[in-house]
Amino acid sequence: MLDLKKQGKFPDNESFQWCHESMSAVASHSDRARSATIAIEVDSLVKIYKNATDPALNNFSLSVEGGSFFGLLGPNGAGKTTALSIITGLLAPDSGSVTILGLRLDRHLRQIQTKIGLVPQDLALYENLTATENLVFFGRLYGLAGRELQTEIDRCLEFTQLQEQRNRRVSTFSGGMKRRLNLSAGMLYQPDILFLDEPTVGIDAQSRQLIHERLTDLNRQGTTLIYTTHYMEEAQELCSHVGIIDDGRIIQQGRTMDLTRQQGFNNLNDLFFSITGKKLRDV
Ligand SMILES: Nc1ncnc2c1ncn2[C@@H]1O[C@H](COP(=O)(O)OP(=O)(O)O)[C@@H](O)[C@H]1O
Ligand SMILES: [Mg+2]
Repeated sequence: MLDLKKQGKFPDNESFQWCHESMSAVASHSDRARSATIAIEVDSLVKIYKNATDPALNNFSLSVEGGSFFGLLGPNGAGKTTALSIITGLLAPDSGSVTILGLRLDRHLRQIQTKIGLVPQDLALYENLTATENLVFFGRLYGLAGRELQTEIDRCLEFTQLQEQRNRRVSTFSGGMKRRLNLSAGMLYQPDILFLDEPTVGIDAQSRQLIHERLTDLNRQGTTLIYTTHYMEEAQELCSHVGIIDDGRIIQQGRTMDLTRQQGFNNLNDLFFSITGKKLRDV
């Protein structure tokens, strides 16, 4: 665990849960048990971009259990990136609410941002800086410095197997290396919840496999993952839970195995096409 957390500047999971449960003493036992297991609660988000005719999000609601590997699945233009941008506090919704680890996003943004990480769809890297320089930049944004920052950077570079390329400029990196560095930047500060927006699009098989393995490790260690993709095989392999989004709203969500079996499908791919149809989505 990070020193900052050890120093008690930010509560760890257990103490946060303790505070949260103490404050909820008046709630019934079942209410408390439920609130302790819900990492993210999203209620009726609506977002209409300027000059757009249709809403990007149209009563989007979602519930994610703590510790799950949650796949947010949808075709191009379904609203995945918009949803993640709002849930991580980068974009304001027109209406609706987001609660993360028991805290309302509109009231506790700074506190929530110390507990979450985002690996964005568009690479957030400076091409002219080296891998290490990029991580120093992002680490400082999180308030890390000195030995602690160095330790975190070493950990993240090792995790994504970029130690040997640490002093190379990003402009010389392959697509897979950039995606892995993007992942490193989102993992600085050891977030409790990590959001990943299509983190394996267009990369080589080895990098994709490494990212899959590392994310599975992170999830086993207790990190809640929210992972958007339109690759159903990937979701089938990785995700304990899925939510299927189309036209700005969640159409179905639940445990991956239960959703497919209960509806008589062999796999997620068949379920996905039965829900979203085969119409091309060229956005
Ligand atoms: N900045 C923007 N301005 C206007 N429309 C946007 C903007 N970003 C996304 N959209 C539109 O909102 C809808 C949802 O987009 P997005 O959230 O990017 O979907 P996804 O990530 O699932 O592909 C699409 O119709 C897209 O064209
Ligand atoms: Mg997107």
